[in-house]
Amino acid sequence: MSAQTQATPSNAPLRLGIAGLGTVGIGVVKIIQRHVDLLSARAGRAVSISAVSARDQMKNRDADLSHYDWVADPRQLAARDDVDLFVELIGGDEGIAREAVETALRSGKDVVTANKALLAVHGQELAELAESLGRTIRFEAAVAGGIPVIKAMTESLAGNDIRRVMGVMNGTCNYILTRMESAGLPYAEVFEEARQLGYLEADPTLDVGGIDASHKLAILASIAFGTRVSFPSVEIEGIERVSIDDIRQAGELGYRIKLLGVAQMTGRGLEQRMSPCLVPADSPIGQLQGGTNMVVIEGDSVGQLVLRGAGAGEGPTASAVMSDIIDIARNVRLPVFGQPATALATPVAARTAVPAPYYIRMELLDKPGALAKVATVLGDAGISIDQMRQYDSDTGQAPVLIVTHSTTPEAIDHAIAALPGTGVLVGEPVELRIEEL
Ligand code: HSE
Repeated sequence: MSAQTQATPSNAPLRLGIAGLGTVGIGVVKIIQRHVDLLSARAGRAVSISAVSARDQMKNRDADLSHYDWVADPRQLAARDDVDLFVELIGGDEGIAREAVETALRSGKDVVTANKALLAVHGQELAELAESLGRTIRFEAAVAGGIPVIKAMTESLAGNDIRRVMGVMNGTCNYILTRMESAGLPYAEVFEEARQLGYLEADPTLDVGGIDASHKLAILASIAFGTRVSFPSVEIEGIERVSIDDIRQAGELGYRIKLLGVAQMTGRGLEQRMSPCLVPADSPIGQLQGGTNMVVIEGDSVGQLVLRGAGAGEGPTASAVMSDIIDIARNVRLPVFGQPATALATPVAARTAVPAPYYIRMELLDKPGALAKVATVLGDAGISIDQMRQYDSDTGQAPVLIVTHSTTPEAIDHAIAALPGTGVLVGEPVELRIEEL
């Protein structure tokens, strides 16, 4: 399918089938009920709900659903004759969500989804299926919640050669890291707090393991570079190893630690990495607090754009879903990833090679010559030291902090692998990239 905008939309109501009535689904229902006139004025036609589906019909929900048919199976909802647009808010990259989306497309319906996992894992085949059938899949809510980053990249920045896209795209991790800093609490305690507040995904590894944010990064990289979504080639490291010591030491150096995703096309191929990094505390990303998300896009003509906003929650995520629904109501159908799916290039995955300074923290046996041995390992790996100091701790060992001059990830890996051979290392060192944004 090529990009198409039909100038004369039909005036018949756009009839939705909404599968998944969690926070986001209920948020969408509420907007549709609250803004009947506004939506119909903006879309040029009414937007109505024919039927809904969720796991538990008896659950008490914060919206009146009595006017809509209830369908137990989302696949049946997706195939109904009185549904023009299937809204998938179930989640998960396999199973019922995927089957229902495929059913909707094969039944001639467009799809709006917030499902980043589904798109990151099966985006290419779903896009090809949709476009071969003259349909589209829109997914503004899948990346960075309420921030209109998909629209910005596929439409507003379509005239730019995108050089780099990066950001903080998991609010839970940003909450944990900022709370550790502000309350001086260890990771495990704040993780538990986040769990009790309901911030963590059912499988918390998706959040703290960096997987959810990497799904989002892979989707953005596809749009930015005209390549097939390549989630398996994202280099992923989560925040589980970040300690309160790292947060304090980074702070003393003028940095904050953020789970940062970076995607860029280099001469060697597509680099996609998601990892905790030190960023300047006074940079826009360094100042990002709590569950807020930020996406930074660099285009050859536009320069640098910084988009900031709520990355999750009922209102912001439903706002993003609604923008896609209104596009479909207006008969605006773009190719799923901004250009026809069959024309997307297969990316060559490249390991991160762009040099950067690194922060290395380790515990050493407190004995003569220990620091010298570490310095020798770094020197042998071709790494030049910018700062090196021992700081106070009650562990009985000698905690040492090193900041390197700009070096390659390969040299860092080499040095880290050689450190145990010094015989003075206690436990595992922590190495974090420093991104001077
Ligand atoms: N778990 C996600 C986050 C929700 O914390 O950002 C939105 O994708």
